[in-house]
Amino acid sequence: MLSLACASAVMAAAGPDPIVATRQSSMKEMAAAAKTIAGMFDDKLAYDAAAFKAAAETIRARTGPTLIAEFPSATLGAPSGAKLQIDQARSEFEALARHIGMLATTLAAKAERAPASITDDMRMGSGPAMGGGSLLGKRPAAAEADPAKVPAEHLLHLILQDCSSCHSKFRQKSPVIAD
Ligand code: HEC
Repeated sequence: MLSLACASAVMAAAGPDPIVATRQSSMKEMAAAAKTIAGMFDDKLAYDAAAFKAAAETIRARTGPTLIAEFPSATLGAPSGAKLQIDQARSEFEALARHIGMLATTLAAKAERAPASITDDMRMGSGPAMGGGSLLGKRPAAAEADPAKVPAEHLLHLILQDCSSCHSKFRQKSPVIAD
C-alpha cells in the first residue's frame, strides 16, 4: 500500500511526459519553417537559399519516424492536444507521418541544390502536369507519381495539406500556421 502511494506521488510530481513538450516544440519549429518557405515563395520574405535549405531540413527531420516516435500511447489525450484516437487509428496516423516525411525529404533534397535566387521551375504551376486537363484534378496525381518532379512551392503546399489532414483528425485544435 505504502509503496503504491509513493509511486503515484512520484508520478504526480514528475508531471506530464517530457516528450509532450518535445513534440509541441517540434511542431512549432515546423510551423515556423513552413512559414519561412511560404514567405519566400510569396515574396513576403527575401529569398535566401541557405534559409530555405535549413527550413526544409527542419521539416524533414521532424516528420516520418521522428514524428511517429513522439506520440507514444501513454502520452496521448489531455492535457496535450493529441487525441486518444491516435491509438485507435495508429496505421492511419503513421501513414500520414510517413507521407509528409516522404514529401519533406523530397523538398529537402531540392533545397540542398537550391540556386542563389528563385527560378521559375521552383514555382507552383511549372510542373510537368501543367499540360492539359484540369489543374486541380491532375496535379496531385502527378505529385503522387513522382514527387521529385513537383516544383518546390507545390511540394510545400502538399506538405501543408498533410499537416491539416492530421490535425483535423488527430489534434484537439486545428489551426496549422496560425499559432
Ligand atoms: C501525423 C500527424 C501530424 C502531422 C503530419 C502534423 N501534425 Fe502538428 N500536431 C499534431 C498533433 C497530434 C498535435 C498536438 C500535439 C500535442 O499537443 O501534444 C499537433 C500540434 C501542432 C502545433 C501546436 C503545438 C503546440 O505548441 O502545442 C502546431 C503549431 C503544429 N502541430 C504544426 C504542424 C505543422 C506546421 C505541420 C506540417 C509541417 C504539422 N503540424 C504536421 C499532429 C500532426
